[in-house]
Amino acid sequence: MPYDHSLLSDIMATGHGFGKVILFGEHFVVYGKPTIASGISKKTVAVLKPGISPGFHITDNRPAAEGYIAKYVKSQTRSVRLMNEAVWHLNFDETPVEVELGGDLYCASGVGASAACCVAMARAVSEHFKLNLSEEDISLCGLEGDKAYAGTPSGIDNTCSTYGGLIYFRKNLKGGDNTMERMKLGRPLDILMVSTGITTRTEEAVAGVRERKKKFPDEYEKLFDMAGEIVERAKEMLAEGNLTEVGGLMNANHELLQKIGVSHEKLDYLVGLTRRNGALGSKMTGGGLGGYMVALFPDENTCENAAKVCEAEGYKVIRARIG
Ligand code: MEV
Repeated sequence: MPYDHSLLSDIMATGHGFGKVILFGEHFVVYGKPTIASGISKKTVAVLKPGISPGFHITDNRPAAEGYIAKYVKSQTRSVRLMNEAVWHLNFDETPVEVELGGDLYCASGVGASAACCVAMARAVSEHFKLNLSEEDISLCGLEGDKAYAGTPSGIDNTCSTYGGLIYFRKNLKGGDNTMERMKLGRPLDILMVSTGITTRTEEAVAGVRERKKKFPDEYEKLFDMAGEIVERAKEMLAEGNLTEVGGLMNANHELLQKIGVSHEKLDYLVGLTRRNGALGSKMTGGGLGGYMVALFPDENTCENAAKVCEAEGYKVIRARIG
């Protein structure tokens, strides 16, 4: 059925998607283990207006690591197609749009930039075409769109990007509803995310784990079980506000990620650097092989001092308070 153009909003529509930080359980979450992650206040913003020539046209002005935007141009185009096929069902040749992407999320691997981009665009499309998408629909768009970047995303990135806040998440491998619990914190978390500047493809990191897991099933099963236990313990310690213990668990989680082959020498270097500068714990975050790492600090001042040390060495950082 042709789209009723009178429904279109004639002014600019906007949408946002939060960046995210995975505190525990990346990669293991793909196989049904729990994870703890949070949206961060830095976000991608999409501004949409009616287009002149047929199609869905994107101008990408997001702040980003060198090479990041170019590397993902094709995935981005595919993500729009996937979201349209799964949820929007629109014809952009008949009703063209122009979308400008911006915001204050410094886009690099590991910070949920792809999901944030999909969620931001989905919100803007929903507003412009008056689709009245629910938060669940928006999150679904994020999941579908993220498939163009991550292959088989677990759902944690689009969940954080849509809802924000600290979330305990477990993917239902049987296809039913995923577990998603909003978490309580005993104390707020002062965290620092540091970018290695290396752009990676989550899809490749996930595929590498899948290959090695097939090769070494017994060893990997043990590592995966340990990862699940770390998350459950971290959930309790976060609720109690025992940040020293939380930091120790982050370190243990990083070791497991090293063992399944998704860390990188630069990530390990930054993990060491932040620990030497007051972090209670630190680990890579997200897909790994580059991208971002995350460190937890006892207070804002220590976090700020470590941020300055990293910046003095030329690294981009994101300071965030969770809770
Ligand atoms: C990517 O942000 C997190 C991974 O666990 C992949 C996923 O959950 O889809 C590596």
